[in-house]
Amino acid sequence: MRVSVLGLGYVGCVSAACLASLGHEVIGVDVNQVKVDLVNDGKAPVVEERIGELIAEVVRTGALRATGDVREAIMGSDVSLVCVGTPSEPNGSLCTTYLERVTEEIGAAVAERGGRQTVVFRSTMLPGTCLDLLVPILEKYAGGTAGVDFGVAVNPEFLREGTSVRDFFDPPKTVIGELDPASGDVVAALYDGLPGEVFRVPVPTAEAIKYADNAFHGLKIGFANELGAVCRALGVDSHQVMDVFLADRKLNISPAYLRPGFAFGGSCLPKDLRSLVHAAQRADVSVPILAHVLPSNAEHLQRAVELVERTGRRRVGLFGLSFKPGTDDLRESPLVELAERLFGKGYDLRIYDPNVNLSRLLGANREYIETRLPHLAQLLAESVDEVLDHAEVCVVGTRDPAVLSALPQGGGRMIVDLIRLPDAEARRAEPGYVGLAW
Ligand SMILES: NC(=O)c1ccc[n+]([C@@H]2O[C@H](COP(=O)([O-])OP(=O)(O)OC[C@H]3O[C@@H](n4cnc5c(N)ncnc54)[C@H](O)[C@@H]3O)[C@@H](O)[C@H]2O)c1
Repeated sequence: MRVSVLGLGYVGCVSAACLASLGHEVIGVDVNQVKVDLVNDGKAPVVEERIGELIAEVVRTGALRATGDVREAIMGSDVSLVCVGTPSEPNGSLCTTYLERVTEEIGAAVAERGGRQTVVFRSTMLPGTCLDLLVPILEKYAGGTAGVDFGVAVNPEFLREGTSVRDFFDPPKTVIGELDPASGDVVAALYDGLPGEVFRVPVPTAEAIKYADNAFHGLKIGFANELGAVCRALGVDSHQVMDVFLADRKLNISPAYLRPGFAFGGSCLPKDLRSLVHAAQRADVSVPILAHVLPSNAEHLQRAVELVERTGRRRVGLFGLSFKPGTDDLRESPLVELAERLFGKGYDLRIYDPNVNLSRLLGANREYIETRLPHLAQLLAESVDEVLDHAEVCVVGTRDPAVLSALPQGGGRMIVDLIRLPDAEARRAEPGYVGLAW
């Protein structure tokens, strides 16, 4: 394929050289003439493992050349990879100035060139940037309709600086956010033959995946370092702890606990987080990530309260009360907290949980209910139907099959979904349905 790469920084330079070595005909563009000259001399404008040899090789064979002229690059290519920088503004917002400028230039050249050009954004940008900001610019300057007259895709880059050439040929995954299938096909063809799973998704999803990845990577490092600092203060070898932690592929290094849902609770997580943070504070170890896990959880619970408030209805049916399915343990259940808040705000509440029957509750659970939610007995219903008959708004906090099958379809009843119902995707289009974090 004939490929132009706009921006010859870390991402553009590695992409250009590696695509050229895969057999594509690549022309790189940068506003910085020094970078253009370096590439044309067969030298790398960035320091990266193997990039020097690779650029020397592909420039020598004529597979890669560089120019300062966007127009020339667009005229000589069918697909354009935009790799310009998107730095932080002083207030933390994303700077899209370089993206906007280069998109204008691409659009103007596309108008002149004719034929179908596919513009692929590789720069990191927030969800909505492509469709709401860049596509209108392209349509204005190119004078056509995106997805019809020219292709548009978002193809975030997951290479790590330092090993990016190696990562290019063995990527963790390839993500293609496609405006239309033909645009996605062009991007898929670019990487044909490379290993790793390919995900073809809507454009804003592709934009968001990059943020999910980087936020998680930062969180992982921060978590490990805070835990290490606490362990050190407590005289424990953090690496021994993490060796065992990492060996757990069921609960730790696994998909467990990584699906957006309701707040956590129960008799262990809140208690143990509190005491760990307290131990860190006593040892004068600042642990802002660990210290903010419970406040973050409380915010999530508050979001659920606000969703119910926003319905403007007073008669609420709550399905689920224990802290997770298959248990009657109510201690620190976030659903108990939710019920209590709604009750306290004067909502007319009925609750159904197949695992919670007041007459069967014993010991700690019974005592917990009596102190935390003394009016529970009056609110608990014996059946799903009893709650459905009462409710204007159904708040769903359980996956109990009897509850799921009884929930009304078709937008007749308001539903606040805390668990992402199995048919949530279809329900999202229904009026009256609202998901907690989707
Ligand atoms: N560096 C990484 O490891 C990495 C990894 C993944 C994603 N990203 C993302 O990729 C994007 C690029 O990152 P980078 O580190 O390569 O940036 P960079 O700053 O190293 O390179 C950007 C290049 O774009 C050039 N440029 C700016 N405006 C231009 C224009 N109008 N026409 C042509 N060239 C222009 C600049 O001169 C510069 O050489 C960013 O959005 C970044 O967040 C970076």
